[in-house]
Amino acid sequence: MKNLIVIFILLSIPAIGAGIVDKRKENFQTNKESMKNIYQAIKVNDLQQIIESSNKIELFASEMVDYFPVDSSSRGASDDIWTNFDGFKEKAQKNETAAKLLKNAAQQNKIDELNELFNQLSMTCKSCHRSFKN
Ligand code: HEC
Repeated sequence: MKNLIVIFILLSIPAIGAGIVDKRKENFQTNKESMKNIYQAIKVNDLQQIIESSNKIELFASEMVDYFPVDSSSRGASDDIWTNFDGFKEKAQKNETAAKLLKNAAQQNKIDELNELFNQLSMTCKSCHRSFKN
């Protein structure tokens, strides 16, 4: 019985470290899904979908840096995140602002601005990946 408990504890330890990495990956996958949904929604003028999906991206962006505590290195995350955390924060902030601008435009029915704002949002994803994703 004692041995079983020890084994159980040992098995649980890596799971604690993996938890936050798995959670952020899940959120990034949702981001990818949201971008796909927005792309489709712009074509058919589904403003509600654009609002919901860009809101999701905005929310995750606003708390993204909390998913990268110092001890949470992973294969996909560049070490530069932790040597230049201010730069990383700035990229997350730009992502949040771009998602908000797209959401606001959809809320205000500014249909002719959606494509451009979507491209700008997409560039904030890529810009961070270029600097901070392996
Ligand atoms: C501030 C930086 C930053 C921004 C902004 C950002 N990402 Fe990422 N993204 C990362 C990092 C870092 C990883 C690697 C995470 C890891 O593997 O631990 C990642 C990983 C991913 C992954 C792979 C997840 C997996 O399952 O391994 C996808 C997909 C993704 N991002 C999509 C997006 C999309 C879409 C956006 C914009 C809407 C976005 N990201 C914005 C930094 C960012």
